[in-house]
Amino acid sequence: MSSAAADTHPLAPTQVVAIDGPSGAGKSTVARLLARELGFAFLDTGAMYRAVTWHFLQAGCAPAECADEPDRGAERMRRALSGARLELDAGRVLLNGRDVTHHLRVREVESQVSAVSALPFVRTAMRDLQRGVAVKGPVVAEGRDMGSVVFPRARWKVYLDAAPSERARRRSRDFERQGRQVSAEDVLDEINVRDRLDSTRSDAPLRQAPDALYVDTTGLTTEAVVAKLLEFVRTSSSERLREAR
Ligand code: DC
Repeated sequence: MSSAAADTHPLAPTQVVAIDGPSGAGKSTVARLLARELGFAFLDTGAMYRAVTWHFLQAGCAPAECADEPDRGAERMRRALSGARLELDAGRVLLNGRDVTHHLRVREVESQVSAVSALPFVRTAMRDLQRGVAVKGPVVAEGRDMGSVVFPRARWKVYLDAAPSERARRRSRDFERQGRQVSAEDVLDEINVRDRLDSTRSDAPLRQAPDALYVDTTGLTTEAVVAKLLEFVRTSSSERLREAR
């Protein structure tokens, strides 16, 4: 797998709507619908980090289990990662051919995915896989580093945000749909912890790319956000935003 610098990568694809933002900003739902409207592929990169976390848990080498090892489990995780074949197929995530989609939101994954996604060797592998998907055709890609690192030449970059209380409400609804009762305070605490970890890590922290369109989704319906982004994609580009600033 290549480790070329992001902005010099010869294959850094451009036909990409790169959507970043914190948890609960509504990225997944919006990105999925936008991809459908545009006829682009949909790339849920959070699901990829979750699948790797699940894989490490299965291999007994997730960060919390390895905290006391001299290298904090890095060697075992590297080995496990090199034996993992990750595929995204119509909204499902396959790990070595097995559908692991229904494991991606379990509590153990939730609690360790930020630590896994802070590991530079995991990020390099995911970045290359993500670019590999986008060179095959146009994509709507959502995550934390889409516009800043993985697709620096993306034609459209968006940063979706929302007030913390609204993000907590949306996450609570997700949990309810999964049949889990989690109090609003716990959800808010969890969101704050995850956002802090995701924005303070040294490798590819959550950042708004300077040429991204900022959209505050607080109080907006999903349909309204999708309509706004559709208009952006159809009438503008991040290059024009850059020129206008
Ligand atoms: O969007 P999500 O909640 O499914 O993301 C799960 C975790 O993966 C979250 O802690 C941030 C991390 N992530 C990341 O570091 N980079 C991405 N491009 C996508 C997700």
